[in-house]
Amino acid sequence: MTIQTRLSPAEPTQILSLAVDLLTIATGFDANDAKSTFDPLLAAIDTALGGQLRALFNEERFRGKPGQSVTLATLGKLGARRVLFIGVGAEPESDQAAARALRFAGTAGRLAVRCSAKSMALACPGILNAANLLQSLAEGVLLGTYAFDRYFDKDDRVPVLLSDVQFCVTADAALATTAFKRAQNTAAAVSNARDMVNEPAEVMTPTRMAEIATEIASRGSMQIQVLDRDACEKEGMGLYLAVGRGSAQPPKFIHMTYKHPAPKKRIVLVGKGVTFDSGGHSLKPSDGMLDMKTDMAGAAAVISAMQAIAAEQLAVEVHAIAACCENMLSGSAYRLGDVYRSRAGKTVEINNTDAEGRLTLADALSFGIDLKPDQIFDFATLTGAIVVALGSHTAGVMTNADDVRTNFLSAASATGEPMWPMPLPSRLKEQLKSEVADMKNTGERWGGALTAGLFLKEFVGNTPWVHVDLAGPSRADKDFGHVARGGSGFAVATILNYLRGISG
Ligand code: BES
Ligand code: MN
Ligand code: ZN
Repeated sequence: MTIQTRLSPAEPTQILSLAVDLLTIATGFDANDAKSTFDPLLAAIDTALGGQLRALFNEERFRGKPGQSVTLATLGKLGARRVLFIGVGAEPESDQAAARALRFAGTAGRLAVRCSAKSMALACPGILNAANLLQSLAEGVLLGTYAFDRYFDKDDRVPVLLSDVQFCVTADAALATTAFKRAQNTAAAVSNARDMVNEPAEVMTPTRMAEIATEIASRGSMQIQVLDRDACEKEGMGLYLAVGRGSAQPPKFIHMTYKHPAPKKRIVLVGKGVTFDSGGHSLKPSDGMLDMKTDMAGAAAVISAMQAIAAEQLAVEVHAIAACCENMLSGSAYRLGDVYRSRAGKTVEINNTDAEGRLTLADALSFGIDLKPDQIFDFATLTGAIVVALGSHTAGVMTNADDVRTNFLSAASATGEPMWPMPLPSRLKEQLKSEVADMKNTGERWGGALTAGLFLKEFVGNTPWVHVDLAGPSRADKDFGHVARGGSGFAVATILNYLRGISG
């Protein structure tokens, strides 16, 4: 069922009389401080509840801090059946406004599902510029209701009854309509990416990924080409095919094309599509392999983004490319010491079969730059080293084009997705020297995310290129704001906002 989003009056008296199942309020003051005065909305609620609000907050130890929330039954004293206060903190950091809005609204969406609310109103007296954050707020609510529960018993699934969400914000009606449309498209694309990541590798094979891409392409009247093993051999994609050799699942090289009649730019989006990464002969330990169905999150992001790009008919030409395969161990698997020729012509000695992502991406990037794009991006769960460097929630962003990266990072920040620049120090390139081939695929342990980036850089020529290593944020180990445990759909929203910006 779709969830309708719309604007609603922002006056406290009007908010108080809204007949909704749940009224959710962003609370951004020190609610425990007896000296601080309530803002007009909270003061009105306090009055309606007979002056009990401060006492109730104190009893629940609710201080309006991020992560805290309190629900109260209004028992007929307000239009809303329940009121939910969600802490957003006292000091808004303006550079993280979108991330705060997502966290608040995501929590609201999740809690609305939990209490079976069919209708919800949100008010944000504690969040500055809620009018500018409408898209993030709506995205947050929609994504906060996401759950991947298809493998649970029917009785254990929590149905999403929410169908109507009102935002009590004073905003321009036309801007709000655009914001809500974008939020709906984004949330649908992000949810699709999450579903793809959350499916077990047994289901989400390269073949299944190609089917999904084909469905998205036909719904959006896009062209799509799926190259099978023979076609990839003709293309000379020796690195990509080496990675997939050990699997019973055939590789599928996906190329989707969206073309606006008057495109402002031609963009190539490459996504790493390793549907399961066992490590191959350089076998991962069991713990490290556990979540490796996530290793196609980059591909899921670029394929899913295409559905929203087409829905909004953005004024760009976009190619989504995913060299999908499975990195398995078998008698036909690629070996350490093997040498393979890349599509671009350079030979690579394999010194670690677990550094497979860069091999698949090298051939995909070489295919991508032949399309002569203005900019090429890749999104990949590429290295554990980037998680060591930046933690589980932030993607590392490397580039040969600082200006493109700067614009992309500001889109990420405005979207509320944490991304951070990382260098590509050319001195580390010596680690990729081989005795028998033009390069080897793996360097030393230290700076492993950067040597991976340097390896990719060899395959993009002079094309402005941005590499996003999202090994950390591609999946979440617990619910947080708009992200549910499991695949996060990370980068989809930033890709879309970046392209909306270009498309003007
Ligand atoms: N898919 C992994 C990277 C990864 C690790 C993603 C943890 C998400 C969480 C990648 O293919 C890989 O195995 N990388 C190796 C590279 C090493 C062999 C140079 C790594 O990070 O250990
Ligand atoms: Mn690997
Ligand atoms: Zn991998």
